[in-house]
Amino acid sequence: MSTDKHSSWSYSEALPLEDEVLMRARERAYELGVRAVTSGTAGLLTVLAAQSRARTAVEVGTGAGVSGVSLLRGFSAQTVFTTIDVDVDHLDAARQAFAEAGVPASRTRTIAGRARDVLPRLTTAAYDFVLLDADKTHLVEYVEHGVRLLRSGGMLVLNDALDMDKVPLPAVRQPGTVAARQASRLLRDREDLMVSMLPTGTGVLLAVKR
Ligand SMILES: C[S@@+](CC[C@H](N)C(=O)[O-])C[C@H]1O[C@@H](n2cnc3c(N)ncnc32)[C@H](O)[C@@H]1O
Repeated sequence: MSTDKHSSWSYSEALPLEDEVLMRARERAYELGVRAVTSGTAGLLTVLAAQSRARTAVEVGTGAGVSGVSLLRGFSAQTVFTTIDVDVDHLDAARQAFAEAGVPASRTRTIAGRARDVLPRLTTAAYDFVLLDADKTHLVEYVEHGVRLLRSGGMLVLNDALDMDKVPLPAVRQPGTVAARQASRLLRDREDLMVSMLPTGTGVLLAVKR
């Protein structure tokens, strides 16, 4: 059973075809030491973005722009996409990826700063789509802000929700893993959210606000 399950996961991750733009963004991520979303997650983000009809979206943890390009390919031309990262080199690489993907600069807003400082400045209930993919240290705080930012009907996506498959292992008590468990439970227990955990990539938790 577990071997079959792993084969299914590997097959699903290998299925998406990524073009030159995404491959170059992945190379830059590798050079910068950034862990980009997997191919399976990138494909999932494009589908979710396409279905969302979002007018406004925000990402925490830009990296080299693999997730951003994937989202922007799903969003409509009217969607304004804000992305936050503490590292200006990562933001530069992401801007390059957005330009190579043919995204007009007017559709993206890149913010350099720590998520803890930037998130409180974003307007409550003003976003249709929120992707969290930064550090785990303050994850619970990011999740609380993410829910606050969502409009009714909006979706929050938490990438690496299984913390590289460590979340299901009770013996693992590393702070990041503990934070990932707390974040999932916090989302699951809120009555204003509908939540589902997908095993895609390293775990993708989806939450839609009622
Ligand atoms: C896993 S990578 C994001 C990968 C990106 N989402 C992608 O798939 O292409 C995490 C990113 O979060 C950023 N980061 C880490 N701590 C942060 C913080 N406190 N505030 C904002 N960004 C942070 C890192 O600089 C890094 O670029």
